[in-house]
Amino acid sequence: MLDVQNIRQDFPILNRTVNGKPLIYFDNAATSQTPQQVIDVIVDYYSNYNANIHRGVHSLSQEATDAYEQSRLKIQNHFNAKHSHEIIYTSGTTHGINLVANGFSSLLKKGDEVIVSALEHHSNIVPWQMLCERTGASLKVIPMNDHGELILSEYEALLNDNTKLVFVNHISNALGTINPIEKIIEKAHAVGAAVLVDGAQSCPHIKPDVQALDVDFYVCSAHKMCGPTGVGMLYGKEAWLNKLPPYQGGGEMIAEVSFEKTTYAGLPHKFEAGTPNICGGIAFGAALDYMNSISFDAIANYENALLDYGTSELLKIEGLKIYGTAKEKTSVISFNVGNIHPYDIGTILDKMGIAVRTGHHCAQPIMDFYKIPGTVRASFMFYNTKEEIDTFITALKKAVMMLS
Ligand code: ALA
Repeated sequence: MLDVQNIRQDFPILNRTVNGKPLIYFDNAATSQTPQQVIDVIVDYYSNYNANIHRGVHSLSQEATDAYEQSRLKIQNHFNAKHSHEIIYTSGTTHGINLVANGFSSLLKKGDEVIVSALEHHSNIVPWQMLCERTGASLKVIPMNDHGELILSEYEALLNDNTKLVFVNHISNALGTINPIEKIIEKAHAVGAAVLVDGAQSCPHIKPDVQALDVDFYVCSAHKMCGPTGVGMLYGKEAWLNKLPPYQGGGEMIAEVSFEKTTYAGLPHKFEAGTPNICGGIAFGAALDYMNSISFDAIANYENALLDYGTSELLKIEGLKIYGTAKEKTSVISFNVGNIHPYDIGTILDKMGIAVRTGHHCAQPIMDFYKIPGTVRASFMFYNTKEEIDTFITALKKAVMMLS
């Protein structure tokens, strides 16, 4: 069981007001809030041991290096990677995807095929389009049904000996659909294709086991899981990471440099050019500690209850349509009410202290599928409550009355 009132004490921001009303934060799929335990780690870093890492013999540098590498081990344990050098620090999910897409430039050729899903965020579409333009490979799309579920029979029909890569998100940011990535990975491997899973939306809610999934690449961002912005991780199987060339050149990623020839460092440093987000990396580990102290089972149970309650209360509003009604869903509800523009609803809700996201959610193909410009999206985390949902429903009804 999860003690939500106790948990809420950990999040100072939840005590503030917005436009004179207590904040109700339902934009968690865009970024989560930060508990005091993580804020303390950030303050401690800058107050006590801020220094560059892997470079100095002095004590501060050693302390910062130890904390940063300790955090890599926490990330490795959390995702159950076989080796810590399979965890590459990134600036976030988009960076991780671009790193892999760039690396495959030298491994693909005309005639090769890559597959994405209709449910992708732009960050898991555009880098692959760019990769296809560079290499002459072609891009295929797994279609979805009206519920926002991928059609697996169509996926199977797309797979063939030319398929080299498959990219899917674990959970859709716009609809909340949980994709059957186990099956997607298994079927891709049967034709020899590698799979990258975008875990930006899954990692805040579930704990992926990269070895059990047998996934080739898995990416996520810390800021969606109670950590700071500007840091994330790319997990890659050792064999794949060894095959990919470095993404960026610079300090830290080299073994030897001369004007005649440069040799590269081993994993993970080969992919970590320049001074990284040191504090962010350390805080990422603290965020994982925090979430694990609550337990991902408790988080999932609690959030599923919020999802069920929010869904049933929203559906009582006349003219309200929910987009994304997959059987397997996480705590994201995208909706519209009649012909009211989502921005108008979002703006009025903000006046009442309620934060939701409105628009296409960086997933225009999904909006095109439903022939809508966008949706209002309410996304819940384990620190939200049923009482907040009640206040949100009352405010939404008022907004609808004002705008009808
Ligand atoms: N990808 C983030 C979202 O879905 C920003 O809101």
